[in-house]
Amino acid sequence: MKRSVIRGTGRAVPSRLVTNEDLTKIMDTSDEWIRQRTGIEQRYWIPEGEELGASDLGLEASKKALDLAGWQAEDLDFIIFATLSPDIMFPGSGCLLADKLGLNSTPALDIRQQCTGFLYGLATADAYIKSGLASKVLVVGAEVHSTGLDKSTRGRDVTVIFGDGAGAVCVEGIETDENVGVIASCLHADGSGADSLMVELPASRLPDRMPKDLPADDPRYFPSMDGKKVFKKAVRKLPEVTKEVLEKADLAIDDVDMFFPHQANLRINQAYGQFMKIDESKIFNNIQRYGNTTAASIPMAFDEAIEQKLVGKKNDTVLFLGLGAGLTWGGVLYRFA
Ligand SMILES: CC(C)(COP(=O)(O)OP(=O)(O)OC[C@H]1O[C@@H](n2cnc3c(N)ncnc32)[C@H](O)[C@@H]1OP(=O)(O)O)[C@@H](O)C(=O)NCCC(=O)NCCS
Repeated sequence: MKRSVIRGTGRAVPSRLVTNEDLTKIMDTSDEWIRQRTGIEQRYWIPEGEELGASDLGLEASKKALDLAGWQAEDLDFIIFATLSPDIMFPGSGCLLADKLGLNSTPALDIRQQCTGFLYGLATADAYIKSGLASKVLVVGAEVHSTGLDKSTRGRDVTVIFGDGAGAVCVEGIETDENVGVIASCLHADGSGADSLMVELPASRLPDRMPKDLPADDPRYFPSMDGKKVFKKAVRKLPEVTKEVLEKADLAIDDVDMFFPHQANLRINQAYGQFMKIDESKIFNNIQRYGNTTAASIPMAFDEAIEQKLVGKKNDTVLFLGLGAGLTWGGVLYRFA
């Protein structure tokens, strides 16, 4: 039977380290507020004045993943690029990344599933592999948030959370009778919650996509979030989807060696762990150092955990899960081959 296994992982962040203390110099906030509410201590942002897009960070992460897999870019037969902050409105960052990798005909698909982008991407790669449409797929999650945040006190609830970064994985189809690779995935979306976390402008639904009389700092150009609503939804949906994906795989929660929840808020992940009665040591968190890097957060965390040798042995079983804008949520169970 065909199985989708991960052959290499990589991550990248820009060079500019921004601590909570740095943020207090540009807006009314405090290190204490940010740590207490979110667990975040620092994040990385694109250096001021530099032109770097999601595809540039994605390229760095992809090169590392390709190296670890022992693949050349030419070996890829499909690229999936998840981002809510594409380099430009169109074409997609996947096309730009393919070009930067020196490719000129490999299919590249952008997906816009925000915090669950990596989950949707991995599940899509798995489906392409299992259907025989592809055998070597690069899945990338990459974000440049910092150039699109409201860095005044007005935007502080959102701005302190987000960081820039990229994560990539090389996924290969293999023939095996073992229950390894992507063993189950569950994806969901509920657009009725779209306005709980969104960037409203530019908007093609308006007669004038970029209304002429608006100031450049109109709040609708920046992400807005109903933080409490998203928090409550996450704390409810993450346990639900965990149960669903475990049932689908016919596994129990104790069969999972490490949980990789999306890094939206350390408190969400702690609440999830307590509710599910999962030992803290089995939930991987790195939001303290990177903030919320949206589509990049899960592959970055996975890459870091592999590097730290926390996971990676044959039959180690991990659960990737998350909830975010859309609203979208999901879980993907993966077992090392
Ligand atoms: C964003 C979040 C940290 C805010 O925490 P919260 O406890 O809900 O805080 P509130 O929004 O109620 O704000 C509480 C107070 O802090 C203030 N505040 C907001 N951001 C602040 C900041 N960065 N620094 C200091 N004070 C801040 C608010 O203005 C409010 O002040 P008030 O009581 O005088 O009105 C939290 O709601 C959250 O993490 N939600 C989920 C986010 C998420 O998962 N997003 C998905 C991303 S994909």
